[in-house]
Amino acid sequence: QSKEDQQLILMHEFAADMYQHILLNTEEGQAALDYLENRGFTREIIEKNRIGWSLPEWNYMASSLKRKGFSEEELETSGLAIAREQSSGYFDRFRGRIMFPIMNETGKIIAFSGRVLEHTKQEAKYMNSPESPIFQKSQVLYNVHHARSAIRKNRKIILFEGFMDVIAAGKAGVDNALATMGTSLTAQHIRQMKRFAQEVVICFDGDDAGWEAAKRAAISLNEENFKVEVAVLPGKMDPDDYVRDNGAEAFKDQIIGKPHAFIAFAMMHARRHKNFQYENDLLQYIQEVLQLLAGRSSPLERDLYIKQLSVETGLSQEAILQHYRKLENKTIERNRPEPTIIKTAKKEPKRI
Ligand code: GTP
Ligand code: MN
Ligand code: MN
Ligand code: MN
Ligand code: MN
Repeated sequence: QSKEDQQLILMHEFAADMYQHILLNTEEGQAALDYLENRGFTREIIEKNRIGWSLPEWNYMASSLKRKGFSEEELETSGLAIAREQSSGYFDRFRGRIMFPIMNETGKIIAFSGRVLEHTKQEAKYMNSPESPIFQKSQVLYNVHHARSAIRKNRKIILFEGFMDVIAAGKAGVDNALATMGTSLTAQHIRQMKRFAQEVVICFDGDDAGWEAAKRAAISLNEENFKVEVAVLPGKMDPDDYVRDNGAEAFKDQIIGKPHAFIAFAMMHARRHKNFQYENDLLQYIQEVLQLLAGRSSPLERDLYIKQLSVETGLSQEAILQHYRKLENKTIERNRPEPTIIKTAKKEPKRI
């Protein structure tokens, strides 16, 4: 770690302590504290996650950091302050937001995400620190530092869409929880996850955006040979909503405890917004599912899901299987450049 990185971390640690002091011990922090209490944040949760409040002032953190001896250049690099365009000087990036520190693997604070109290259209609900020498959004997973030992113990990662969901899951004792910082899952995220476990349960929001993101994450993780399961929430709820409405126990038992296998989830995804009274929807559904099976399934899975397709659509298993074989041959053709695949493919007698 360079000297510069160490300085940047010091600034974030200082800022987090100050934000937390304002939240917990001052009049100015009371509204934010009430908000958090309303959302079920206990004192213990606030302290463990080092949550705070940034005053709605233009030059509070910047001048505090300067007084502490940090240079203007460091101020700007950290992202905690922004250089004024018209005049000289700096102003605070985070003003009037609940401050969630983002920690690296060793628990050092490298960035913040700030949430407004009232979500209106004028302002973004969350504002994150910009990229800096110590913070790369596409690499950072929220809660890695806290979750690591629980992930090793469970041999499994529970992946959420937002850090609020990670915190909610903690109330249910689901400690092996991670989330991206609002970006989609990148190759770097996946590489990092690989170091901790081979199994992932994806538990994203129940709205359309969440379903789409879950499908993409499931495919990426499956391609990287994770065992992928998906825990689905009723309606448009997110995990945090569910915990609030149904309690932490129910979340753990009914949602996290009952995930769907990757293919079963992909079938649910493919069925969404389709009406089987329309033959186009029906045929497209079969096509989507068979394509998925042709890509990766074992003979048992193939049998299981082709049976299920037949029940769902009322078409014969024979017809579905025939169509499947056509797709499978095409898939093998596409994959031919891989030399090891040719070898094993030759050994097996063609099943047509
Ligand atoms: P609450 O509304 O407080 O319950 O948060 P949430 O976790 O339900 O947020 P949501 O599902 O809308 O978004 C999931 C994640 O996307 C958040 O944790 C953020 O990382 C990111 N995100 C959401 N809204 C914004 C935004 O306005 N700006 C940025 N930069 N990120 C956002
Ligand atoms: Mn949003
Ligand atoms: Mn969402
Ligand atoms: Mn959400
Ligand atoms: Mn939420």
